[in-house]
Amino acid sequence: MSSDEMKSAAARAALAHLPAGGVIGLGTGSTTRFFIEAVGELVRGGRSFSCVPTSRASRTLAERCGIPLLDDAGPWQLELCVDGADEVTPTLDLIKGGGGAHTREKIVNQAAKRNVIIVDESKLVARLGETRPVPLEILPFGLNTTLAALAALGEPRVRLVEGAPLMSDSGNFIVDLTTSPIDDPAKLDSTLRGLPGIVETGLFIGRADVVVVAGAQGIRELRRQ
Ligand code: A5P
Repeated sequence: MSSDEMKSAAARAALAHLPAGGVIGLGTGSTTRFFIEAVGELVRGGRSFSCVPTSRASRTLAERCGIPLLDDAGPWQLELCVDGADEVTPTLDLIKGGGGAHTREKIVNQAAKRNVIIVDESKLVARLGETRPVPLEILPFGLNTTLAALAALGEPRVRLVEGAPLMSDSGNFIVDLTTSPIDDPAKLDSTLRGLPGIVETGLFIGRADVVVVAGAQGIRELRRQ
């Protein structure tokens, strides 16, 4: 099974978690792309969903798929949000933000009654920070001061795309903080959120209800205890 086949399989398996209708959060990334396309098929077949996309890219794709969308301001009554992740631990803690959309993703996650995460098995880790840095969205004002404060916690790097800083949909920098494997991610999240200038972290602690994992052996679901 190719990586794309696994992502598509996880996305299709997540359709079983959809309510009959209602408001659904649409995550961001290459796995969620398959989910958005599948929701588009359901809508064209007569299912009634309104959706809240977590990035401009997801909004553009969802519009192209004919999915009715709510505006960015909310408030929304979300039955479910389906999103991807970069790392998943056995206790369903996550690193997100590989696409720089984690602030919007966390807002929609918080507003949803249930959160389903879709991944291929390459995303499973024992501890967060094993394979990926922690993405941070950071205000442009005082960037170098914020980076200096972050140096006490790991190695911060402004994320570049083709040599230029990647700016989030909200006009902020994305900084990747490389750490060693994280023993206490909730504590690190709280420390980071205490630093002025940090808009949001990519640490999603206690925010996933179900993780749908696609692997060579098929689909399995991990549930939060
Ligand atoms: C977007 O900012 C991220 O949080 C994605 O949800 C995450 O990076 C997973 O993306 P892929 O499905 O592309 O791996």
